[in-house]
Amino acid sequence: MAEFKHKHIIALRDLSKEDIELLLSTAESMREINSREIKKVPTLRGKTIINLFYESSTRTRTSFEIAGKRLSADTVNIASSSSSATKGETLSDTALNLLAMKPDIIVMRHAVSGAHYFLAGKVNCSIINAGDGAHEHPSQGLLDMLTMKDRYGRLDGLKVAIVGDITHSRVARSNIQGLTKLGSSVFLAGPPTMIPPEAEKLGNVTVCSSMNEALEDADVVMMLRIQQERQGKTLMPNAREYSRYFGLNPNNIKLAKPNAMVMHPGPINRGVEMSSSMVDGNQSWVLKQVENGVAVRMAMIYHVCGDELAPGTI
Ligand code: CP
Repeated sequence: MAEFKHKHIIALRDLSKEDIELLLSTAESMREINSREIKKVPTLRGKTIINLFYESSTRTRTSFEIAGKRLSADTVNIASSSSSATKGETLSDTALNLLAMKPDIIVMRHAVSGAHYFLAGKVNCSIINAGDGAHEHPSQGLLDMLTMKDRYGRLDGLKVAIVGDITHSRVARSNIQGLTKLGSSVFLAGPPTMIPPEAEKLGNVTVCSSMNEALEDADVVMMLRIQQERQGKTLMPNAREYSRYFGLNPNNIKLAKPNAMVMHPGPINRGVEMSSSMVDGNQSWVLKQVENGVAVRMAMIYHVCGDELAPGTI
């Protein structure tokens, strides 16, 4: 097996094509564990993982916890709303105090882009990014790529349309980094107020002037949530207007390839970025994305601990 040399996983920008392929291949192996009646292996017995979430989460936090438990690590969850962060404790002090309890991995979600690089400079355990501001969400990018690979058997040569609030989307940034390294072509569309001026510099992407242009002959259509919590000011007239120009529905999906994949990282605003018929329809891969999230996070946890593990212990 190829070696994973990174102590932290903070951004897909930091990983090579080979690193990403290794994580996806390990995630495929982890899926076998998740299909067993007893979904637990002793691989990470004795390891401690702290899930430190400064922002809300349903999918990411739960699946990191399940991933750790399935590998027999001890997992502890901290939500900032019930931590001493509410009393004014800084991230640095929180991290140093948690470190005194000798965790092996801190999985963190934080509203500040780059917070994980700051943390990695302060601690001697591994840091995994569960989403930082509008920067990256590497586990989401990996699970999205695994899901596309499930459908097509490859990522090379796929046309992936990413539609919505690109400016504030860490999901878009991780997908752009990962997908373009593995040979997919990424097309972005959204209201001009939600496309960053430097969009072409995000990676090898094409910025489209309309949603229809992005959808045309796409293999994958990835819809994004409007990140109102990061926008600061209103960037669209109203939800109905947004949906009219940038919502996915049974008519405009016909522009994509027949049976193209419909994806969304969640949480979904039904009727805004996608109609319910698209969310629940037979082209939707939304719940498969969530399922793959557990295997991907098991692979991430496994590889940042990798050097200390006996080969073949998965
Ligand atoms: N996709 C995603 O990050 O979902 P959560 O915010 O629920 O973790």
